[in-house]
Amino acid sequence: MSGEMIHPDIRMAQTLPSRFYTAPEEFKRLKGAFNGWQFVAHAAELEANTVLPVGHMEAMTGEPILLVKGEDTRCLSNICTHRGMRLVPEPCAKSTLQCRYHGRTFDLDGTLRHMPEFEQAIGFPSKADHLHRFPLQRWMGLYFTAMEDAPLLPWDMLEKRLGFLTPEAFTYDPSRDRDHTVEANWMLYVDNYLEGFHIPYVHPELNQALDYAGYETETFEGGVLQLGKAVEGDVMFDLPPGHPDEGQAIAAYYLWLFPNMMFNFYPWGLSVNIVIPVSPTTCRVLYRGYVRDDELALQGAGSVLDTVEHQDQWVIEEVQKSMASTVYDRGRYSPTREQGVHHFHRMIDRFLS
Ligand code: FES
Ligand SMILES: [Fe+2]
Repeated sequence: MSGEMIHPDIRMAQTLPSRFYTAPEEFKRLKGAFNGWQFVAHAAELEANTVLPVGHMEAMTGEPILLVKGEDTRCLSNICTHRGMRLVPEPCAKSTLQCRYHGRTFDLDGTLRHMPEFEQAIGFPSKADHLHRFPLQRWMGLYFTAMEDAPLLPWDMLEKRLGFLTPEAFTYDPSRDRDHTVEANWMLYVDNYLEGFHIPYVHPELNQALDYAGYETETFEGGVLQLGKAVEGDVMFDLPPGHPDEGQAIAAYYLWLFPNMMFNFYPWGLSVNIVIPVSPTTCRVLYRGYVRDDELALQGAGSVLDTVEHQDQWVIEEVQKSMASTVYDRGRYSPTREQGVHHFHRMIDRFLS
């Protein structure tokens, strides 16, 4: 496939053909896009428990992993190197990891410490007997790992915009956890996220809190940043002097990282959405909430999250049904309102070629 399935000029480009939202072959080819950097957890999730099995990574990549807090926090395989038992079933604060099958024990850095009945084994232990270690990147208190070599994301550029919020100090609020199954291809969820074009039509409540005319979309290598502007008198960020967006009434920063991660920064804190592909026509969306200032959570663009979510799910499930049509295949992009969707489709195009 050429790199030009999606024309680089948005004014001429057509959207992704509908088979990408329905066909099992395309679904399978795109699974590899999930092997790059993926959100694991926020540092606050390692406060009560120091060993955290991360279930969503397995759902996306097939690899069960552990996040382990220490002087040097690590991302380890959660598979016992003996005969493959799942090592840690749930979050804990243990100081060694003992397999429940035959007692193999590991230190928290993944080194094999003890194995019964192996005195006569030759060449044991070897490197393969320690737990596999995956790369781990920490950015403003958020941990990311990757299943294969992946180019680094523009963390510095993003930190200049968002670092003033000190997200590393946010607290984890499990009451905000959600796990929704949506009857739509994961890319329809992303497409919808990447434009504010639909806000006046689909989200009447949110539309009252946001200044639609001022909505901005910025694309960069690896993602998209959207800026929601506050209407007069509503809650907005208190931007420090010298901030790149100083003087603007910003109600929300919506950051998307390829292919499936959404970080929604509001004055009250951060809401994260992780989209997990399940089948060509089904995905799961996990929500996590990290709080900066609880009192602000009832005001402005960040206060109507559940309502907005249901409205989005309704619209993309409707679109999914249409993807099976024999008369609809591709649409066109609004050059002023759908730059994010176009950017995403270009990335998909490049990934496939
Ligand atoms: S599988 Fe873990 S000790 Fe045997
Ligand atoms: Fe929406």
